[in-house]
Formats: sequence, structure tokens, C-alpha cells
Amino acid sequence: MNLGIMASGNGSNAQAIIDAVQAGNLSAKITCIVSDNPSAHVIKRAELAGIPACVFQPKLFENRHDWELAMIDYFKKQEVDFIILAGFMRIVGQPLLKAFPNRIINIHPALLPAFPGRNGIKDAYEAGVTQTGVTVHFVDEGIDTGEIIAQQAIMIDPEWTLADLEKKIHQVEHQLYPQTIAHLLKTFVA
Ligand code: GRF
Repeated sequence: MNLGIMASGNGSNAQAIIDAVQAGNLSAKITCIVSDNPSAHVIKRAELAGIPACVFQPKLFENRHDWELAMIDYFKKQEVDFIILAGFMRIVGQPLLKAFPNRIINIHPALLPAFPGRNGIKDAYEAGVTQTGVTVHFVDEGIDTGEIIAQQAIMIDPEWTLADLEKKIHQVEHQLYPQTIAHLLKTFVA
């Protein structure tokens, strides 16, 4: 199976997936990394790993539709079977969803359906809940509403700062995401 990763920023989750492939823990090939942000650190990570990277800035397209069609075209050229969102900070619209039905997944830093949206970690922390976690889910037209594939809970130590919680969430993400992708791909191949 060929994976295409979409990411807007640091790309630590993309890195965890790259590492899992390189370690032989995820039998897939990452054929490209796509970003909407030309200064995203994930592009450096792609270069270091020898993975083709391509930036699609929405503002350089006539409209959203054309932007998505250009990305679809690129993914098809790179023979992508599955799209992995790893900190991609824009909504995926109908063209991509139709081109890759049930084949786009995302990781969210909270226990969905609790705390959807951009600030899942901070929102949970500020709400004072005793547990939060990480969710891997299929992407649909809503914001963090697609079918849940895997979740891992994290108990919040009352002593933790927000930075402590963020660190813990990312540790869990870097384990859970590659594992879940590996498991999911097996069910597709079977
Ligand atoms: C992660 O916390 C992920 O759950 C969320 O965006 C963040 C991306 O971090 N969707 P990184 O770019 O993978 O380091």
C-alpha cells in the first residue's frame, strides 16, 4: 500500500510513520508528503528521508476546488492508496473525500467526540477533565467527526502543566498512529 501524508507543521507524527516504515514495523511505502505551508518543518523531514514533498498553497489557486483537484492529481501520480493527515490544519473537502473514499485518516489529540477542533489538548486541559487522550479516525466532511478507528486514554496528573500534557499526548500519538495504520492496512490487504 502506498501512503500519502498531508501535514502543515512540525511533522513529528509524519516522522513517527517514516520511522515505523524504515524499522519494518509498518509495511507500506510513503510515496509523497504534501503540505499547504512552504515553511513547514515536515518538508525538511521528507527531504532527509528521501520522500518526494510538494507544497500546495491554497492562495495560489483560483478556489478551494481547484486546490483540491491539484492535490488529487499529484496523489494519483504518486500512486497513493491511503492519505494520512498528520497535523494538516485545513479542512478536507468533497473532491478529496470522493477521490479517496474511506481512505483518508486523521489523528486528533483528544478523546473524540470530546474536544474536537484546533485546540484539543488545551481545551481538555482548561476544562479540568481527569482524562483525555488520542483518537485516530476516518475523515468525513465534518470537523473531527468521522468514524473512530482507535483511541488511547491518558489520565491527567493534577500536577501537570499544559506543556507536560502536550508532551504526553505526542508520545502516545507517535506510538498509536503507526500501529493503527499498520493494523488498518492489514485489514485492507486481507
Ligand atoms: C498533533 O497533535 C495531531 O494530533 C494534530 O496536530 C498535531 C500535529 O503535530 N492533528 P506534528 O506536526 O505531527 O508534530
